[in-house]
Amino acid sequence: MGDLFIKNPAAIVSPRPGLIRGKGFGDLLIREGVSILIRGGIIEAIGDLSHLEQVAARDGLPVLDAKGKAVIPGFVDCHSHALFAGNRAGEFAGRIGGLDYQTIAAEGGGIMATVRATRKCSAEELKEIGKYYLARALRQGITTMEVKSGYGLDPETEIKILETVQALNDEQPIELIPTFLGAHAVPKGVSKNSYLQQVKDMIPDVARLARFCDVFCEEGYFTPEESAEILNIARSHGMLPRLHANQFNAIGCVDKAVELGAVSVDHLEVLDDREVAVLAGSGTACVVLPGVSLFLDIPYAPVRRIIDEGGITAIATDFNPGSNMSLSLQLMMSLACMKMHLRVDEALCCVTQNGAHVLGLTAVGCIEEGRQADLLVLDSANYQEMVYFYGENHVRQVVKKGVIV
Ligand code: NIG
Ligand code: FE
Repeated sequence: MGDLFIKNPAAIVSPRPGLIRGKGFGDLLIREGVSILIRGGIIEAIGDLSHLEQVAARDGLPVLDAKGKAVIPGFVDCHSHALFAGNRAGEFAGRIGGLDYQTIAAEGGGIMATVRATRKCSAEELKEIGKYYLARALRQGITTMEVKSGYGLDPETEIKILETVQALNDEQPIELIPTFLGAHAVPKGVSKNSYLQQVKDMIPDVARLARFCDVFCEEGYFTPEESAEILNIARSHGMLPRLHANQFNAIGCVDKAVELGAVSVDHLEVLDDREVAVLAGSGTACVVLPGVSLFLDIPYAPVRRIIDEGGITAIATDFNPGSNMSLSLQLMMSLACMKMHLRVDEALCCVTQNGAHVLGLTAVGCIEEGRQADLLVLDSANYQEMVYFYGENHVRQVVKKGVIV
């Protein structure tokens, strides 16, 4: 919780508070010739430089000189699987050589390979691995991040992952929002029915550790009906429902999610016109993951149409060892613009305020008086350069709750 005076930005660039869908979504608020006064981690004032400078000098606030560069909100990554042991670089190479994701999974690779590694890893080791990835995420501007379990698939390891998320919240600057994803796959050697029962039995125990419950609703994983059973129980224990839906096949997950009033459906690479309309007319947010489409060479979700029809959309990394080994929301924005036809301003809204909306957070995601001071100073005066000069890290300084981190 810091005090800070940010002077001399080229502009303060932010989504319009509360505007997450429909007409005008994406029209950023761009303020020039102003500075930002922060106290106790909260934005106290945005305004005229000379006046605020006097106040800051009088009260002895530390000063961050933005040196004529753009200031934007910290990024909110609303979908990640950032806590796992090992990696699958070998599998990646095999896939590039011609094997597909589902064949690899059928041969004991895929999610189960990461599950085996994560089960073997101690909580202490897992925390150290987490710190390594989170430090990289922070340098690239992520100040809030959802993290899913789902690489344990047994009570002991699922709890180990969620407790590690909790511990990491106190030991590094990124604010982590935990999600229980026990229904990520059926572990080898266990029948579907008995694993479904195990997941249901885990819910009362993990509910204290997770804000959301998610299910991988997909052919060969969990059906819409099984997903609904799990999510209804989760909700009765206070966890809010989300769903991995329509990544490889459309099997009815979208309709089920909307019927359940899910907070979000994530992926949506395979989505027909009717489903676009259903989502656009609903309160369920659509989280799209362009890095997965690039990494696995699968279609891009039709997010342009969802926005045009009035839906709520966010962009996330889906950082995980099997379908997107990237922590760059800057790259995800570039892909969203180049491959999904988003406007640059819309893409910025999708990785800030709209990501925060998915996570149920109102304190972050836009730059306004009274909000938490999670801010990025970029290395250019024009925020659009970050999307245009792609694959680079354009974040020069990160401020979390008013502290330069
Ligand atoms: O969101 N689709 C399911 N789960 C992850 C991939 C997990 C993995 O391959 O390890 C995803 O893409
Ligand atoms: Fe995912």
